[in-house]
Amino acid sequence: MNNLIRTVDLHKSYYDGAKELPVLKGIDIEIQKGEILAIIGASGVGKSTLLHLIGGLDRPTQGKVYYENQDIFDFNDRELDRFRNLGVGFVFQFHHLLPEFTAIENVALGALIAGRNAHDARADAGELLDYVGLSERLEHHPSELSGGERQRIAIARALINQPKVVLADEPTGNLDRKTSAAVLDLLWNLNDRFDQTFIIVTHNQALAQRADRLIHLVDGRVSNQVQVIDL
Ligand SMILES: Nc1ncnc2c1ncn2[C@@H]1O[C@H](COP(=O)(O)OP(=O)(O)OP(=O)(O)O)[C@@H](O)[C@H]1O
Ligand SMILES: [Mg+2]
Repeated sequence: MNNLIRTVDLHKSYYDGAKELPVLKGIDIEIQKGEILAIIGASGVGKSTLLHLIGGLDRPTQGKVYYENQDIFDFNDRELDRFRNLGVGFVFQFHHLLPEFTAIENVALGALIAGRNAHDARADAGELLDYVGLSERLEHHPSELSGGERQRIAIARALINQPKVVLADEPTGNLDRKTSAAVLDLLWNLNDRFDQTFIIVTHNQALAQRADRLIHLVDGRVSNQVQVIDL
């Protein structure tokens, strides 16, 4: 099989004392390199939870996540850290940019953590910010930028270490229609130009319809009724 990512019988429960809250109840999905997969589903169904498991941010209660046939939860802590830094890029709904750092510093930080020298990290960050249309905003702080600009910085930040996949949790969640369309165009350009793989949790109908594939989570499982889009 030529999958980039595969989840096998993925389960996740949260516990409140002895009380179990089952959230994911057996998720089997496969993602090919260069694919754009959209995940939809009602609030609280477990979309963010699934994204966190796929990105190695949290451990499943049961089941596996494979990247190119390597089980990421077989990694020791150091290897898992490295995987999270280099293997995946995260775009969070509320961007999570560091307020005290400038745009270029926010983007370069991931490369510095990965051990690149400051000069190269800055050069790469500048190039990415240019690509997302923010070459005039390198030294601005997040508070001096619009919502769409912040989200584009978050996307640049996710790409800095050339991850195998970008995991995006409602990347257009708090943007107006025009700004979200610009962010979507950016994601699709990255996919065209770099064959970048994306898994995107979304309530955005335009995004869901444009994706290569759509997965609908219902009651902890993948529903095969993908036609019923309740966004
Ligand atoms: N750390 C946690 N501890 C306990 N319960 C949690 C935790 N994280 C999430 N949950 C619960 O798990 C369920 C799934 O949460 P999750 O954030 O994955 O939903 P979601 O589909 O992303 O929702 P939304 O569309 O509102 O973002 C929710 O009922 C939530 O309350
Ligand atoms: Mg969520």
